[in-house]
Amino acid sequence: MAIEAWFTDERNEDQRFPHQRKPNEPVSLDHLAELGVLYWHLNPKDYENDEELKKIREARGYNYMDMLDLRPENVANFEEKLRNFYTEHIHADEEIRYCLEGSAYFDVRDKEDRWIRIWIKAGDLIILPAGIYHRFTLDTSYYVRLMRLFVGEPVWTAYNRPQDDHPAREEYVKSLTERVGVPLAAN
Ligand code: LAC
Ligand code: NI
Repeated sequence: MAIEAWFTDERNEDQRFPHQRKPNEPVSLDHLAELGVLYWHLNPKDYENDEELKKIREARGYNYMDMLDLRPENVANFEEKLRNFYTEHIHADEEIRYCLEGSAYFDVRDKEDRWIRIWIKAGDLIILPAGIYHRFTLDTSYYVRLMRLFVGEPVWTAYNRPQDDHPAREEYVKSLTERVGVPLAAN
């Protein structure tokens, strides 16, 4: 099944809840692609020999790979890490995550600055473009195993919003304007 995404409600409840609107307002893969968010569904059981994964890594130069096992028992400063992941930020590079087990949410801002929640589960590979405002949280399953990919030596630095003058942000806004043809509201 394809990935699920939706516009979030604004309720101040636990970040691990789905936060769907009533009625739900789903977001399509096309809409995500317009924002520069790419998606593949792969076989998570075959990640060590998967030809499709190999092709994606070769085509995009993702030579670096590691694993992140996010669950309270085996991560030092778990709560603090989660807080940081959930603080709205950008990176200077793509954020590439392949979910091998469990599930979690990536929230990204659309061009009207609304939050879109993307629910990733085993087999979902997503790429967030450099410069997109986003955040991450576990869901109520409280467990996810993620493969992280990168071009060359990884840099995980997060730049918290506002970052309007960051080169990656400027580049992203420009590419979005070219793709969608509507300037982003200044923020
Ligand atoms: C991140 C982790 C969760 O946000 O992959 O970088
Ligand atoms: Ni990030």
